[in-house]
Amino acid sequence: MPAKPRVLITRAVFEEVLDRLRVVFDVVTNAADEPWSHATLIERLQGCDAVFVTTGERIDAALLDACPQLRAVCSMAVGYNNIDLPACTARGVLVSNAPDVLTETTADLGFALMMAAARRLSESERWLRRGEWNRWAVDQFCGQDVHGATLGVLGMGRIGQAIARRGALGFGMEVIYLNRSRLAPELEVPLGARWVSKLELLRESDHLVLVLPYTPANHHQIGAAELAQMKPTATLTNVARGGIVDDAALVTALHSGVIAAAGLDVYEGEPALHPGLLELPNVVLTPHIGSASRPTRLAMAQLAADNLIAALAGGKPPTALNPEVLGDTP
Ligand code: DGY
Repeated sequence: MPAKPRVLITRAVFEEVLDRLRVVFDVVTNAADEPWSHATLIERLQGCDAVFVTTGERIDAALLDACPQLRAVCSMAVGYNNIDLPACTARGVLVSNAPDVLTETTADLGFALMMAAARRLSESERWLRRGEWNRWAVDQFCGQDVHGATLGVLGMGRIGQAIARRGALGFGMEVIYLNRSRLAPELEVPLGARWVSKLELLRESDHLVLVLPYTPANHHQIGAAELAQMKPTATLTNVARGGIVDDAALVTALHSGVIAAAGLDVYEGEPALHPGLLELPNVVLTPHIGSASRPTRLAMAQLAADNLIAALAGGKPPTALNPEVLGDTP
């Protein structure tokens, strides 16, 4: 019997997913669930035909050159800024991500963070837990309204649209957005969404939510100059990727009242955070949990497994990013 293809699963994932993969592959796991260094990843990949990755592993040209037998890189995340797609394509390595299955869960978290920042939930809860609540006061923890406010969405892809739906249909918000291309009328009209310039987006948003992919061009899309254009009552929420916001500039803006508050799920250099963020009362911080509900994380891992199985069987992975390596058009 021919040997089964060998696949490396870089982090601990669900047993039901591993069980599926073990039927067809020789599966190498990371039982300790320790994030590996780049060098360790290269070492573990020797002899592997494919790798199942998360957002944390860097797949670059050096790794590909050190692992010439690698045929597929299947990520359980939708964002793939950790993978050098052109380098993979140039070497005929198939890459897949895991879109769609996390859209609504990530939109829920984005909306929750925006609301928490606007209504000062973390700040008031910390105060209450410290035992400081001894009387009612008319101006106690007055925040910003969400209902009826203007929701700005930077990056109107699937998750951006899902956040806009929550705002427009659930909270009566006016939706403005900026995206590389304008949405089709059948998407724009039901949301009453307006495509605006970056300056209009910054100036008019009461609550600005970032949902764009990280690319070198999107590095520090929101820095000191952009924050200075925003309303002093505005909130900023980032559920996309660290590096889209200049975290140092955001700390300064939150400290000096340039904007009112922020909700962040992602950070430059995470899991390390800019130390200034931890000191600020007016920022809600979560540890990159946008897609973190069990059903969604399981669906993401199953989709990565579907891609892996199809890729090594010579079929068409359902969410391939470079199907041209199979001779298909993308
Ligand atoms: C993604 O899929 O890109 C998310 O950030 C992972 O939680």
